[in-house]
Amino acid sequence: MEKKILVTGGAGYIGSHTVVELIESGYEPIIIDNFVNAEPKVIDRLQQIVGREVKLYEGDCNDEGFMRSVFSTEKNITGAIHFAAYKAVGESVEQPLKYYENNIGSLLVLLKIMKEFNARNFVFSSSCTVYGQPDNLPVTESTPKKPAESPYGNTKQICEEIIEDFVRSESSFRGIALRYFNPIGAHPSSLIGELPIGVPNNLVPFVTQTASGIREHLTIFGDDYDTPDGTCIRDYIHVVDLAKAHVKALDYIEGSNKDKQFELFNVGTGKGNTVLEVVKTFEHVSGESLNYKIGDRRSGDVEKVYANVDRSNQLLNWKAELDLERSLIDAWNWQKSLVENAK
Ligand code: WQD
Repeated sequence: MEKKILVTGGAGYIGSHTVVELIESGYEPIIIDNFVNAEPKVIDRLQQIVGREVKLYEGDCNDEGFMRSVFSTEKNITGAIHFAAYKAVGESVEQPLKYYENNIGSLLVLLKIMKEFNARNFVFSSSCTVYGQPDNLPVTESTPKKPAESPYGNTKQICEEIIEDFVRSESSFRGIALRYFNPIGAHPSSLIGELPIGVPNNLVPFVTQTASGIREHLTIFGDDYDTPDGTCIRDYIHVVDLAKAHVKALDYIEGSNKDKQFELFNVGTGKGNTVLEVVKTFEHVSGESLNYKIGDRRSGDVEKVYANVDRSNQLLNWKAELDLERSLIDAWNWQKSLVENAK
């Protein structure tokens, strides 16, 4: 029987890469996207990569009637991967209600409809932001969550708690929260990748836009941290490795006979790199000299965070295979393809 999986936000950065891996692993993804944070052309690109049609329903996960109509049209949806959420940390501070309404509201609707239609396997897109600045590194899933530094981070913490409470109340529902570290890079075909709207908040798209002349220079937010070169440390994971972790998470719960199952998994490489190491590695793989300046620290940044990935490696039978160099090569190729296509 087809393993039909709803993929909310499936036209987005991580969602689109996951749709590719789902199809390549024999799943039948059904994309839901309202294109607030994604472009419709991504669907055509996905179809080019997988060589077949990809099913899409355009609409909002917050819309209960729309979601019910999708589940009743698509018989036998067995599970869902929930990517759809707003994710700009800074914007969440300026517009908290928009974030609580969308990120939490859409989860509540989805869980309610999944229950109604007996879809039992659920993978949630969470974030290492729930850890704040961990006291010990590498950070494990049992590390207590810290008070969120932003409404965005708070929605991730609240959503994890909602799923856990829901799973406890439903005898055969199984939920997994994947705590992403820093997703970077793009599909090696350069047909899909990160499409930041406006000025990028995140490091790697800012680096590639600077190298392609779209940004005048990169500002490194602080070099006075307690790290080898003074710049912050993060765990940068290739988006294709991250996408594969979602397939492994589904395999894990599809094959589970546990009841009331809710589990957390860190999804990172287990290795930390400083901002300057990312910049120098980018220069090495691209052959470009990057124009950067050292600026003030960015409020809300943690000094260093990287993952202990033992649980993911052992229980999900998943391990990141692509290194920082590969991620930055793919990010740079994607950026060049964007510039080429914009001509
Ligand atoms: C990485 C490092 C910056 C830009 C955030 C969210 C997280 C997830 C990923 C959604 C930091 C430095 C950055 C720049 C810089 N988002 N930097 N100059 O902050 O670790 O994580 O994005 O799921 O939830 O919190 O990622 O890429 O913004 O920053 O020096 O122009 O790069 O200070 O040390 P971050 P980032």
